[in-house]
Amino acid sequence: MCGIVGYIGKKQALPILLNGLKRLEYRGYDSAGVAVLNEGLFQTTRSVGKIDNLVAKMQDEKIGGASGINGTMGIAHTRWATHGGVTEENAHPHKDCTGNLMIVHNGIIENYRELKEDLGKKHEFKSQTDTEVLAHLIESLYKGDLRLAVEAALAKVRGTYGLVAMHASEPTKIVAARLGSPLVVGVGDKEYYVASDTSPMLAHTQQVIFLDDGEIAEISEHGVQIYNLADERLNKPSEKIDWDETTAERQGHDHFMLKEILDQPTVIKDALRGRLVESDGTARLGGLNMTEEEMHKIKRVILIACGTASYAALVGKYAFERLAGLPTTVEIASEFRYSDPVIDNHTLVFGISQSGETADTLAALREAKRKGAFVRGIVNVVGSTIARETDGGTYIHAGPELAVASTKAFMNMIGVLLMYALQFGRVNRLAVATGQRLVKAMLQISGKMKQTLELSDQIKILAKKYSGYKNYFFLGRGVNYPVALEGSLKLKECSYIHSEAYPGGEMKHGPIALLSPDFPVMAIMTKNQLYDKMRSNVEEIKARQAPLIIIATEGDDKAKELSEDVIYVPATMELLEPLINTIPLQLFAYHTAVMLGRDVDRPRNLAKSVTVE
Ligand code: F6R
Repeated sequence: MCGIVGYIGKKQALPILLNGLKRLEYRGYDSAGVAVLNEGLFQTTRSVGKIDNLVAKMQDEKIGGASGINGTMGIAHTRWATHGGVTEENAHPHKDCTGNLMIVHNGIIENYRELKEDLGKKHEFKSQTDTEVLAHLIESLYKGDLRLAVEAALAKVRGTYGLVAMHASEPTKIVAARLGSPLVVGVGDKEYYVASDTSPMLAHTQQVIFLDDGEIAEISEHGVQIYNLADERLNKPSEKIDWDETTAERQGHDHFMLKEILDQPTVIKDALRGRLVESDGTARLGGLNMTEEEMHKIKRVILIACGTASYAALVGKYAFERLAGLPTTVEIASEFRYSDPVIDNHTLVFGISQSGETADTLAALREAKRKGAFVRGIVNVVGSTIARETDGGTYIHAGPELAVASTKAFMNMIGVLLMYALQFGRVNRLAVATGQRLVKAMLQISGKMKQTLELSDQIKILAKKYSGYKNYFFLGRGVNYPVALEGSLKLKECSYIHSEAYPGGEMKHGPIALLSPDFPVMAIMTKNQLYDKMRSNVEEIKARQAPLIIIATEGDDKAKELSEDVIYVPATMELLEPLINTIPLQLFAYHTAVMLGRDVDRPRNLAKSVTVE
């Protein structure tokens, strides 16, 4: 979703802004723009499409090229259209009537139509965006102090914003404000950065200030001063983050998605490290912030998430019910936030999110908190809003995930959910020996994941064989049903091939009507307690002559009787199977998408961090 970068300091702003935008490309966008203050005048370029188009346009216009921009302060933006089509006029930055004010904005100004009417005919609007209205609103309130004008404007606004503004009359000041859309300020040596997340600043500084909702930062040569919307000065020191630029690099791989799939055996160890206790057959996640007495009082668990994170949550449901005997439901955040959930102070709610910024998940968690639940986060991005707003929780330690399609975060979410289920299980009812078996299996899982990744070449050949098909079913039962959902989502979002996932037993209740020799099925049929049931479902598919790819456990020679296309994976405990069985599906989606020439890391229409509802 939209990305913001701002810079003020001693260096040339333009390269920093453009490199910063590149770092934010993973979020998804459809147009881009930049404005740099150059000898009292803003020099602005905007263009539809990729950042490379923006750079080409600057070269055409000789901006930053032969004529050069010597400005040391500027803002830049990647836009993911909400209000108004994908056009150059709608791309940010937007300016006021005088051209002295420039702003970039993420989020949605809900009352922009009323505000536009109030501003009246005195203002000339050049775009269809809510952001431009905000620029004119700030203009109408400007009396020589940009921060005060921004504060006054925001008092009239209903909606969400991550906003960065500059004014030509105040050439050494940037103002940034946040409500609902993330913003981080990077603190360097007499130079400052502001961005939607830390990735544009990691090359320059690891010292950051995460703005909270309702905060405004005034960034100038005097440093960073933070205010609330009531104009009170806040004391908010910077903190050091431990991600650095190299962890956010492709490291020689063709795509971030492949790198992140290959990273999985390493990052799963980071999720488990120091949290498993072999002798007691349990896990200790300090971030739970609950005493054993409080844990005993928990009578049910709700897992809230969107998309891939919700499929990880489904695996968590099996784990909580099987290991801890706690009734567990998985709620799609966008539904939960507008429902009437029955919640009490015996309910434990986990919000699961890679970005920690997903607007629906955040709103659902706030709702659960308001209703008295214990609310905890399972989050990847350090310092993200969900991580900060929940009363505890756990980082999944997957490292920066830059491909839009989530892979390694899914695995580490499952890892953390399994540990929470185990911790509750051992407090509630689980025998030490069972706990120890699970811990042992978890400690071996990284090696088995590595072994599974060696199937990549075989899967590439299969992807080629199957790449002409237009429709797919993914089937699994028990813990492998969420795996089927995830495999299907990966295929459709990366390759744009239509695909649906069902529990194996559901096929004959309708979907089986679609099966034909043109409709392949990916069936997860590993050796677990539902093996015989799943095998019967696969037989039913074979009888309808649908092409079959089967994920089977090593040594299951009988799988070959059902299809010539069998992918053999290492055996593990049933609850851990998703950590293995998802890998071939990720690789299948990846290789298929590459073969079809798709933009694998940035599939069309998608955004990495979905900060609007
Ligand atoms: C799919 C994918 C999305 C996200 C979803 C939630 O590959 O990445 O479905 O899982 O948008 O995002 P987070 O986990 O950031 O809350």
